[in-house]
Amino acid sequence: MLIGVVAETDPLETRVAASAETVKKFVALGAEFVVQHGAGLSAGVTDADYQGAGARMAPAAEVLSSADVLLKVRRPSGMELTQIKRGALVVAIMDPYGHGPAIEAMAKAGVDAFAMELMPRITRAQVMDVLSSQANLAGYRAVIDAASEYGRALPMMMTPAGTVPAAKFFIMGVGVAGLQAIATARRLGAVVTATDVRPATKEQVESLGAKFVAVEDDEFKQAETSGGYAKEMSAEYKAKQAALVASHIAKQDVVVTTALIPGRPAPRLITADMIQSMRPGSVIVDLAVERGGNCELAKAGELVTTSGGVKIVGYSSVTRLAATASSLYARNLYAFVETLIDKASQSLKVNWDDELVKATCLTRDGAIVHPNFQPKPE
Ligand code: NAI
Repeated sequence: MLIGVVAETDPLETRVAASAETVKKFVALGAEFVVQHGAGLSAGVTDADYQGAGARMAPAAEVLSSADVLLKVRRPSGMELTQIKRGALVVAIMDPYGHGPAIEAMAKAGVDAFAMELMPRITRAQVMDVLSSQANLAGYRAVIDAASEYGRALPMMMTPAGTVPAAKFFIMGVGVAGLQAIATARRLGAVVTATDVRPATKEQVESLGAKFVAVEDDEFKQAETSGGYAKEMSAEYKAKQAALVASHIAKQDVVVTTALIPGRPAPRLITADMIQSMRPGSVIVDLAVERGGNCELAKAGELVTTSGGVKIVGYSSVTRLAATASSLYARNLYAFVETLIDKASQSLKVNWDDELVKATCLTRDGAIVHPNFQPKPE
């Protein structure tokens, strides 16, 4: 059983899929571990760290062509798929929605692909929940990025030269990332308001010492799915929400957006007109930018400054915390992959009927097997 890790090919990606700690644990389970030279450097893990944990270093081509299990942060590229051994298990954040051709390509390449973000949110799988481990850090980092771009102090300060007012933060979307953003902004002394379409978030926002702002009509009362996620809201609700947001945003110093709907593009919450209403020096951080963005004008990986002097941050937050994000992601992967290994024979033994396997497996034996991603009939 050979487990491999390569450097990520996406130029914006700085995380790595294994830490020295997880390599050591896999080796203890009887696995051989091979890592591409330098794969961990951008996340602060050296080749010597991996070797000390029991891994062997090798060129990417060797890792790809020999690993029985390939651990990655992002979905393998087309070039990598030409090199990966047929029948290998590939475990990563696959970003499958809206990327049918990429899933088809993995099926064609004969890899058994597992999408970590499809892990069910049940107690047994909490330790494998990459959405939570990464979103929590993203929410934290979004506030740090906002603070560093904002040209004023965050806490209220009473000095002999006069009083500095506290910065006003508005957090849009209060899931895992939004809650951490609220907590971080509060710790830095900002005055925080927050909004979401799920009623359950109101109490959570208030328990963190922030004020809840939302259109609380009948639709809002039913906006949460049984799985705990947001529904796409009606055009009527969106219009009411936009009016409320427009008047609120004009008075804010920093806005952090984190709103997502699983399997759909991110809802557009901030328009160019709203951005224009903010005063120069205000900052918007759009954490949903890779899923289409909550904020008009946001660009993935970039800082955009409008002619009105508003800064819009589109950085991939977790990649700016690569060491912490990688160590938690690596633990999420270990917790899942360990369930695919038979401890007695020290070999791979996937239970294809296990609910975690069924929920995450996209492709198997050359075909797309996940019900949500079946190719449409011609
Ligand atoms: P997410 O990343 O899918 O979305 C972020 C937030 O955006 C959500 O709170 C959502 O309601 C909000 N949103 C969507 N559309 C919006 C709109 N138009 N305007 C304003 N806000 C909007 O959410 P995340 O962080 O994955 O959390 C989803 C749920 O899963 C939560 O109930 C959370 O508590 C729960 N959860 C459960 C876990 C478990 O049981 N193991 C682990 C982590 C989260």
